[in-house]
Amino acid sequence: MSLDVARIRAAFPALDHGIAHFDGPGGSQAPQPVADAIARTLTAGISNRGTVTAAEQRADAVVRDARAAVADLLGADAGGVVFGRSMTQLTYDVARALAKGWGPGDEVVVTRLDHDANIRPWVQAAEAAGATVRWAGFDRTTGELDPVEVTGLLGGRTRLVAVTAASNLLGTRPDVAGIATAAHAVGALVYVDGVHLTPHAPVDVAALGADFFACSPYKFFGPHLGALVARPALLESVHGDKLLPQTDAVPERFELGTLPYELLAGVTATVDFIAGLLPGAGDRRTRVTASMAAVEEHEDRLFDRLLEGLRGLDRVTVHGSPGRHTPTTLFSVAGKAPQEVYEKLATLGVNAPAGSFYALEASRWIGLGDAGAVRAGLAPYTNQDDVDRLLAGVAEVCA
Ligand SMILES: Cc1ncc(COP(=O)(O)O)c(C=O)c1O
Repeated sequence: MSLDVARIRAAFPALDHGIAHFDGPGGSQAPQPVADAIARTLTAGISNRGTVTAAEQRADAVVRDARAAVADLLGADAGGVVFGRSMTQLTYDVARALAKGWGPGDEVVVTRLDHDANIRPWVQAAEAAGATVRWAGFDRTTGELDPVEVTGLLGGRTRLVAVTAASNLLGTRPDVAGIATAAHAVGALVYVDGVHLTPHAPVDVAALGADFFACSPYKFFGPHLGALVARPALLESVHGDKLLPQTDAVPERFELGTLPYELLAGVTATVDFIAGLLPGAGDRRTRVTASMAAVEEHEDRLFDRLLEGLRGLDRVTVHGSPGRHTPTTLFSVAGKAPQEVYEKLATLGVNAPAGSFYALEASRWIGLGDAGAVRAGLAPYTNQDDVDRLLAGVAEVCA
């Protein structure tokens, strides 16, 4: 069954503005039920989590529901879902905590393909611990990350491999499962940046072999916060910094300060919304998986049209051509600065921003420096008209 895109679009008040949004990789638009859940929770009568008053119980239920929702979204254990301000913050926290056990001679592997949020926290934590950082490159032309680039760096002292499930710059989807198998064989942990994959495909953290998997609900219709999942037993073995009166229980141990309850209610509403993208029966995990498979199919089809259109324009260069990819592409127009293209498209009601999008290493690696290029990413609410408007806009820039 395919997505009813018109029905989905009707749930997003922001789309009434008539803008064609290709800026989803930076953050998606949010549907009304998510906003309603946030407002309802904030005004329902809420206090800190507890068991005595109804307001306390409400807060407690909100947190439990949100963990269950993220677990259903990712195929994870609800007892191993950690919420934080952002994926960046969560990754810094985990890196600093894990690095307490590292020393000189230990090694960490990062890739040039990753967003800086899955590079710098590891580089800085390794530096502080005296550990060594090994860098995996990728194919500058195709944007592919050959697993050998990573597995060739593994050794008996590799403590952690940080790798992206999908590049937010080029859309590349590396063979995370293959990399994880090799990393586990040498006793290393695998930290997967799932921020850009989660909005575009069904995710199963166990199948990926991810020890840690981080994502950001605001990239898939939700509120602005981050979520990290890991096996509860693994989290039990990790000790970050925390306040003395704070519980040592997992996963709360990693959640510093008071959680944003209203945003967590928004996360639950987000996962319920995703589960309902495709009408169907079964438990929420089943419906989420079916919906995300339909999202992938819809986005793939539109993306083919987009790529074909862009490649057909004389002055346009599309960067990378990864085999397995998300519906995200990076392109340049000969003789035009990326910022100029972005600004021109914006005047036409087409949002396709320019930059390196914090995938700074990747942008430099492929020769685009810090300025990067123009990025266009599809979302489940993107329709054919949006794609045609983008192509017409780029053609106008080229003319
Ligand atoms: C692939 C990827 N990883 C990590 C991040 C950082 O996420 P957050 O804003 O939640 O820190 C982003 C944000 O753009 C991203 O696209």
